[in-house]
Amino acid sequence: MEIAKELFGKIDGTDVFLFTLVNKSGMQLQVTNYGGIVTSIKVPDKNGKFDDIVLGYDSLKGYLIETPYFGAIVGRCANRISYGKFTLDGKDYTLSLNEGPHHLHGGTVGFDKKIWQATPMTDDSSSSLKLQYTSPDGEEGYPGNLDVTVVYTLTNDNKFQIEYTAKTDKATPINLTHHTYFNLAGTSGRNILDHIIQINADRYCSTNPDLTPTGEILNVEGTNMDFRTPLPIGARIGMVRGGYDHNYILNTKGQFGKAAELYDEKSGRVIEVFTTEPGMQFYSGNFLDGSIVGEYGLVYQKNYGLCLETQRFPDAINQPNFPDNILRPGETYKQLTIYKFGVR
Ligand code: GLA
Repeated sequence: MEIAKELFGKIDGTDVFLFTLVNKSGMQLQVTNYGGIVTSIKVPDKNGKFDDIVLGYDSLKGYLIETPYFGAIVGRCANRISYGKFTLDGKDYTLSLNEGPHHLHGGTVGFDKKIWQATPMTDDSSSSLKLQYTSPDGEEGYPGNLDVTVVYTLTNDNKFQIEYTAKTDKATPINLTHHTYFNLAGTSGRNILDHIIQINADRYCSTNPDLTPTGEILNVEGTNMDFRTPLPIGARIGMVRGGYDHNYILNTKGQFGKAAELYDEKSGRVIEVFTTEPGMQFYSGNFLDGSIVGEYGLVYQKNYGLCLETQRFPDAINQPNFPDNILRPGETYKQLTIYKFGVR
């Protein structure tokens, strides 16, 4: 398998590239080393018709002007850190605040806005793009130089695999994720409310109105949050304040296993999500409001795409109830997440 590389644009004189990975059955993944952004994923529907099932732009400029984290690698800590503050080993840290009084998705210039060093790697059964970035000590307020490697792999059996590793020289909280917005209807213009989702989680993290966690862990049983049995996203979304934007606590408990399945009946397209992570943020594209016109001239209205962000629990550094998310010198952070595409 081969990887094509073309110039995508320049940022402050530095070349940014677009890489195209294609597998034996024609599935195509395009990635730029700016933010590790997945700009397109083309997969067939049940009639064999290929279409792009992710939201984004056709040029680098779009991503530089405005993006709600379309397709990006998110870090150093995904989701919110309440008031951008935490105490670690007796020391107080203040992070950049980029969502009102809170820190969101790694801050003002998070990993989604960095130029990553990219190395294509291919063999007979897959093609991969290795992305590396060193986040310096103090960046966005975080302690320690953090070396991060993310390997995106496209396999011949239609899996998009993401492997993360990181090492630090000072203790730091870490929570990496991937922020692709999926719409299995492709470029048809239909939103995701009739997509059927199943999430393998008995519990979720309750949130305050500003979406920071309250620290409480609640059961999904008997609530509008319960997706243990497959249901259309739109079935009960109107009864959930703001729509779905919650960390589901996966029943796999941090062991590699199936987190979720997303199905669009009309196109027949399916995504199965597997991960080593203990949580998954199910975000139903609630902040899309029609102000962004993306690739193919599509207007991204509310609920036009959804994210399945495998992760550690948001704000874990401040929540005594949540499992620890601290990486220490000598340790290696590891995560494996697979999005497997198919039709039914
Ligand atoms: C995540 C958050 C959302 C929102 C989006 C980006 O999914 O949980 O609240 O910030 O990213 O718009």
